Amino acid sequence: MPLVGASFETAAAPVVAVLGGTGQQGRGLARRLAMAGRTVLVGSRDAARAEQAAAELGAGGAAGIRGGTNADVARAADVVVVAVPWQGHAELLRELADDLAGKLVVDCVNPLERDERGPKPVAVPEGSAAEQAAALLPRSRVVAAFHHISAKVLLEGDEPDETDVLVVGDDREAKQVVMELADAIAGLRGVDAGPLRLARWVEGMTAVIIAVNRRYKTRAGLRVTGI
Ligand SMILES: NC(=O)c1ccc[n+]([C@@H]2O[C@H](COP(=O)([O-])OP(=O)(O)OC[C@H]3O[C@@H](n4cnc5c(N)ncnc54)[C@H](OP(=O)(O)O)[C@@H]3O)[C@@H](O)[C@H]2O)c1
Repeated sequence: MPLVGASFETAAAPVVAVLGGTGQQGRGLARRLAMAGRTVLVGSRDAARAEQAAAELGAGGAAGIRGGTNADVARAADVVVVAVPWQGHAELLRELADDLAGKLVVDCVNPLERDERGPKPVAVPEGSAAEQAAALLPRSRVVAAFHHISAKVLLEGDEPDETDVLVVGDDREAKQVVMELADAIAGLRGVDAGPLRLARWVEGMTAVIIAVNRRYKTRAGLRVTGI
């Protein structure tokens, strides 16, 4: 099926693509966004793998998902979520810079490394994965979000339990679009958490949440009080 994207300016709801959409986090976000009625395109380095992931999500009840190569789905979408491992982040974005021009790019990548004591943030020359994305994609609008919500929670069971999605970025309109996407998913709330330069702490916080998960044998989420 051809991938036809709606115009970001005119569409009632933006078409969302997920790069690395065959992985845990990508499939989880695709599933929840499709359940929220959004058109979702699952991307992969391999089109057949993407189509299979889309078909499996569809068979599981998440309608409206199609698959294609990362480049194809990026071109066809208005909003493109980056859900690949940190190790492949820079190379993929460099490759897709033309396909992502004019798109709203949502980075959920956590640059973490593990040792015997668990995960910890890695030093990123640009400051954060999201700032690296912004540096590599000067023709895209980059926002960072969805770092703390566990893929397992997105993929399984009922809705998340009153969980906040911290959204950071320098473009207010783009942040608003991403907060609306978060709000569309049952159980999630988008929270404007400031400019892109704060992304390093949002990304690093994931190591803290994983530590909590290990200690309490749970899938913890984040909730900001007072708003
Ligand atoms: N898992 C979570 O709970 C969670 C929560 C929040 C944020 N995140 C973030 O989301 C991202 C994805 O996490 P994940 O657990 O879904 O990872 P994953 O399952 O290991 O990988 C996701 C997908 O990325 C593609 N990929 C793998 N290596 C790649 C490379 N070198 N270059 C380009 N694409 C590559 C693969 O798809 P193809 O082989 O089909 O191309 C894979 O299915 C990570 O950056 C993580 O920090 C994860």
